[in-house]
Amino acid sequence: MSIRKFVDKWHRSIAKRVPGIHPPVATGNRRIEKPHKVRFSLPTLSLSEIFSGCDNEEVAFLPRLIRTHKWAMPEHELITLGAITKVLQPRLVVEFGTFLGGSTLVFASNMPERSKIITFDIDPSARKTHIHGMGVGVPDFDLGCLFRGTRYERMIEQRYSNELNFYDKNVEGQADLVFVDADHTYDFVKKDTQLAVRFLKPGGSILWHDYTWELSSSECVGVTQAVNEFHKEVGGCYQIAGTRFAIYTPSLVANRSRTTAA
Ligand SMILES: C[S@@+](CC[C@H](N)C(=O)[O-])C[C@H]1O[C@@H](n2cnc3c(N)ncnc32)[C@H](O)[C@@H]1O
Repeated sequence: MSIRKFVDKWHRSIAKRVPGIHPPVATGNRRIEKPHKVRFSLPTLSLSEIFSGCDNEEVAFLPRLIRTHKWAMPEHELITLGAITKVLQPRLVVEFGTFLGGSTLVFASNMPERSKIITFDIDPSARKTHIHGMGVGVPDFDLGCLFRGTRYERMIEQRYSNELNFYDKNVEGQADLVFVDADHTYDFVKKDTQLAVRFLKPGGSILWHDYTWELSSSECVGVTQAVNEFHKEVGGCYQIAGTRFAIYTPSLVANRSRTTAA
């Protein structure tokens, strides 16, 4: 059996067993590579090579962030996120993909006072009918429960962004950091990356989760492909060693070209 047939069969078997998860559907003209063909082509750098001294940052981390769900981020990646936040000191973070709010809470607890996070997820009332890259409908979960009731909650604004053609003019050119961790299929990551560029301030950074993945999470191929394409067009992207993050940070590009020129 070819790998494609195997993956299709495997998706169908998941669809039968897991309510709310459906096999992939064709969405227009998306150009999705087969998982085994996609290469993790970004250069890899350690956190301290990307941001000097970043590995020495003291990160705020609440015990409620200990991982309880497959979709939530593991602790070492949350700490990485906290360290990046400490170094960048963003005034506004935009996040695609709130889920339980773990990454949102890490941003908030490591950002300067009086800064803000706008975090997007699917409107809970639309979960059953939501059309996404893998089919229709998403399982229920308690949106943002990890930041609810903390002293950081006041820094966080929850918004909804169900559709591929979603846009929010109020955020244009405002964000110091955009974090892309929502629908991991190609069309959505491509769209979220384009939105990220429009939402960024000049000099701002984009961080993607799940740039690397294992075959059991092969829908994340969309992240790899969209980020590889962005890097080919714009440059300045790196995979962060020991994590599944990819980062685009123009300040790093500027520093590196100064170093190379010296
Ligand atoms: C992997 S989880 C995010 C995990 C979260 N960033 C964390 O680290 O705890 C992905 C989230 O993206 C949301 N999502 C999926 N498609 C979306 C869309 N089109 N717009 C907004 N959110 C979406 C899902 O509902 C889910 O909560």
